[in-house]
Amino acid sequence: MTSETTNPQNSQPRRIRLAWLIAIIIAVAGSTTVVAGLLVNIFQRKQEAKNPYLRFVDVTNDTTDPAEWGKNWPREYDGYLRTVVPTRTKYGGGAPSEGMLPPEKAEKNPWLSRMFAGYAFAIDYRDRRGHAFMLADQENTKRTKERKQPGSCLHCHASVIPLYRQTGFELAPTAPPAEQIQKGFVAIGKLDYWEANARLEKSGHKHPVSCVDCHDPKSMQLRVTRPGFINGIKALKAHEGVADYDPNRDATRQEMRSFVCGQCHVEYYCGPKTTLFFPWNKGLKVEEIESYYDGYKFDDGHRFYDWKHEETGAEVLKAQHPEFEVWNQGTHGKAGVACADCHMPYMREGALKVSDHWVRSPLTNINRACQQCHHYSENEIVQRVETIQDRHYALLTRAGGALVDMIDAIKAAKNASASEAQLASILELQRKAQWRLDFVAAENSMGFHAPQELARILGESIDLSRQAQLAAVSLKVTLATAPTAAKPAAAN
Ligand code: HEC
Ligand code: HEC
Ligand code: HEC
Ligand code: HEC
Ligand code: HEC
Repeated sequence: MTSETTNPQNSQPRRIRLAWLIAIIIAVAGSTTVVAGLLVNIFQRKQEAKNPYLRFVDVTNDTTDPAEWGKNWPREYDGYLRTVVPTRTKYGGGAPSEGMLPPEKAEKNPWLSRMFAGYAFAIDYRDRRGHAFMLADQENTKRTKERKQPGSCLHCHASVIPLYRQTGFELAPTAPPAEQIQKGFVAIGKLDYWEANARLEKSGHKHPVSCVDCHDPKSMQLRVTRPGFINGIKALKAHEGVADYDPNRDATRQEMRSFVCGQCHVEYYCGPKTTLFFPWNKGLKVEEIESYYDGYKFDDGHRFYDWKHEETGAEVLKAQHPEFEVWNQGTHGKAGVACADCHMPYMREGALKVSDHWVRSPLTNINRACQQCHHYSENEIVQRVETIQDRHYALLTRAGGALVDMIDAIKAAKNASASEAQLASILELQRKAQWRLDFVAAENSMGFHAPQELARILGESIDLSRQAQLAAVSLKVTLATAPTAAKPAAAN
């Protein structure tokens, strides 16, 4: 009998095998429990991620008062409130002290007044300060007090979306919500600034940028709300070959950490000749935007321009704070470092990681804004930034000087009775030179966001100004040495 069951020699391994089997069963059962537990945990986490906060009050798409949100999220609200605090760095603007307006930019850079001759920016154009002031500063500038401005100005200076929604609803009660917002945006934009402002006040939503502008009130996820940005980024993506782009559906979280700022810190056309738009249909670089403007025709068939330069008659472009566009061309933008990484860095509050909602110059916050990536001393970081900024400022000042020389030369040619036809190509050069210089000057990082790109643009501006100056000077000489030639009357 050699049956295995009775073979004592075999009973040992058999027991071992049995033990193994039991162990495996236990292990499988155990790991199943662990996996099941994990799944439950993941599910809970996901639920938490959807609604991770203890709420004391309910906030909705119509809650524009940040104080209400502050009851649920006091740490973020506290940071938001601190945007009233004036801060100053070597180039970073701001009010000298609490309650005072920031200085006029032309005090330091008198060439700005020549560049803006005949435009509202020549009468009042100040350094920026914190978010809390954005609506008050818009109401207080001579640009709205003494000049007519469109309702579109509110797009970036107020928590204006509920007013858009409400207005759009009245115009098209059955349209989908997104369409209603677009309709309201167009209708409010067309109004006179003060009329739109009065409607905002009446609607009960008169606040500067608020929590609801960057956060979904249900999930607290980041979102973009500004129609100008939603339309602009869609046009940009279409140009890049992506159809029907919707940032709130298609963007990554890291992208959203810059997109929320790109709602306002961008170049735009505000009206009144057409609805506010971001000129991104051909790309974000300075000449891509210029090319879009040059090809753009207003309803009256005239080529796009912002105003007629008072001293020369050139139809010129006005650039506005293109932080988003310029950041995109820089090292940090290319490396995926977001606006929020530097301007709203994380800070620890006990066990919590909180984003600093005191949006401001990162140079007032180097430890958290830069040193999480750059492990050298605070002093050295400031030195590196200021070296970039000093070089940038020197080149900017030279470009301003070249612009003034150009304007003087064109004026002199005009005074010598140069005709419109003779001046046409020179005024084209002015348009190009001025667009480049203004684009760089209006950007608020004093070169930091993309040093090389901005130096390239300034180099071009200086060259274009000097070309125009040279052409104007030789035109004047020609006119002076040919006194008998038939000359049409001067333009003015
Ligand atoms: C790598 C860090 C970094 C990133 C990313 C970044 N910035 Fe900046 N930003 C700076 C620095 C440094 C300055 C210069 C501050 C100064 O001179 O005090 C600055 C200046 C500014 C200013 C002027 C602030 C002031 O007080 O003078 C604005 C506005 C601004 N950035 C907006 C943006 C926006 C919008 C984005 C994203 C599209 C962005 N920044 C991305 C570092 C960054
Ligand atoms: C696309 C968004 C956007 C629109 C539209 C917009 N602004 Fe602004 N505005 C900003 C941003 C961003 C700043 C801060 C950066 C700066 O000062 O360059 C600013 C700054 C300002 C300031 C403070 C600094 C200064 O220029 O004196 C005033 C005043 C102002 N805007 C008025 C207006 C008026 C008037 C209009 C309508 C003609 C308008 N804004 C339309 C985004 C916008
Ligand atoms: C200009 C856009 C903007 C505004 C306005 C804004 N936030 Fe945020 N908020 C952000 C960004 C960016 C983050 C980082 C989110 C991320 O990385 O996912 C953030 C994160 C948060 C978070 C997540 C936790 C944290 O701190 O990272 C909370 C909660 C929050 N914000 C509350 C508020 C409240 C309350 C207000 C109004 C008082 C507000 N936010 C206004 C942009 C904004
Ligand atoms: C709704 C439009 C809007 C949004 C969104 C917005 N900003 Fe601003 N920002 C402004 C305006 C307007 C000012 C100028 C306010 C003034 O001077 O009265 C400003 C000022 C600033 C300043 C200067 C602060 C100071 O103390 O001098 C910085 C830095 C800045 N913004 C960065 C950002 C960043 C980073 C984001 C995204 C997280 C962002 N902003 C989102 C409109 C906006
Ligand atoms: C999230 C990470 C991150 C943060 C935050 C960050 N940087 Fe950078 N920085 C980078 C990367 C990545 C590069 C590119 C390095 C490379 O490609 O070699 C860079 C490059 C630079 C350079 C080289 C200049 C250039 O344009 O090539 C300077 C200067 C600099 N950073 C300064 C700063 C300052 C100042 C701050 C804070 C306001 C800051 N960085 C915040 C990641 C970061």
